[in-house]
Amino acid sequence: MALVTTTEMFKKAYDGGYAIGAFNVNNMEIVQAITEAAAELKSPVILQASAGARKYANSVYLKKLVEAAVELYPEIPIALHLDHGADFNVCKECVDGGFTSVMIDYSSHSFEENIEESRRVAEYAHEHGVVVEAELGTLAGIEDAVKVDADKAMFTDPDEVEEFVRRTGVDSLAIAIGTSHGAYKFKPGTDPKLRFDVLEEVARRLPGFPIVLHGSSSVPQEYVKIINAHGGALKDAIGVPEDQLRKAAAGAVCKINIDSDLRLGMTAGIREHFVAHPDHFDPRQYIGDGRKYVKDIVAHKITMVLGSDGKA
Ligand code: G3H
Ligand code: 13P
Ligand code: ZN
Repeated sequence: MALVTTTEMFKKAYDGGYAIGAFNVNNMEIVQAITEAAAELKSPVILQASAGARKYANSVYLKKLVEAAVELYPEIPIALHLDHGADFNVCKECVDGGFTSVMIDYSSHSFEENIEESRRVAEYAHEHGVVVEAELGTLAGIEDAVKVDADKAMFTDPDEVEEFVRRTGVDSLAIAIGTSHGAYKFKPGTDPKLRFDVLEEVARRLPGFPIVLHGSSSVPQEYVKIINAHGGALKDAIGVPEDQLRKAAAGAVCKINIDSDLRLGMTAGIREHFVAHPDHFDPRQYIGDGRKYVKDIVAHKITMVLGSDGKA
């Protein structure tokens, strides 16, 4: 199977009540860990590259690494997605460079500007057989959200979604319901809760339309503990509870973005290795241990959170 778009994946995920994991890739070992886990579990998967990843690794390397995975695992559908494309030009570059899906993130601009840029990207991408994700609403932590609870602009406004999708022609929509990027999503001692009322209202307005959740790492405490027990200092790192992500995946959410958890796994493996083997200096040894944990985490997400195992 060649690289695929997300169209078929999302249709099956929507109808089947599960979601596809969109995992961020930055180097070979991360690509290997994700795709080995997905292949063993017969799960479709999205590999996504941010601007930072493209700068760090170079888009050509990332594309070739993903192509290697496609060649090694022809039995599973793999999509290559641009994460948080800043504008039309970045999206065009990725469409031209062989990505099968791009995100245009103009969510920090006005509604009209967001519509215009997303529409331009959708038009160009569709001419080239590439699908498009856009975003409405602003991702933030619960701390901020509570402060401005009355200001519903923080979350996606369901009143805007039909017009946005109709006028842009995008293929999926990322919405803000209380998730946020990074490992410090909620205040310690609080009870993290996503806004399922917003999600349900969006789903009601856009029947059958694939919804995307960014900032969906759960910050597994076992890995935070390993990091902190081996010289790390991650204080109060808290993520989205897995049961809430499972509930979202069972509904209209078809794509769940996870990056921070993979970073934690890689860091835990490497830190543990260095403490256990202070005499080692072969990168294959310590990065290999990081890669093992990343693979374990992806396998856990696929089976226990996304429900995409066996769906390839
Ligand atoms: O959405 C953010 C992703 O975790 C990518 O992060 O921009 O540091 O590569 P990055
Ligand atoms: P996390 O930081 O929660 O892993 O979110 C990643 C993400 O949304 C990438 O676009
Ligand atoms: Zn994101």
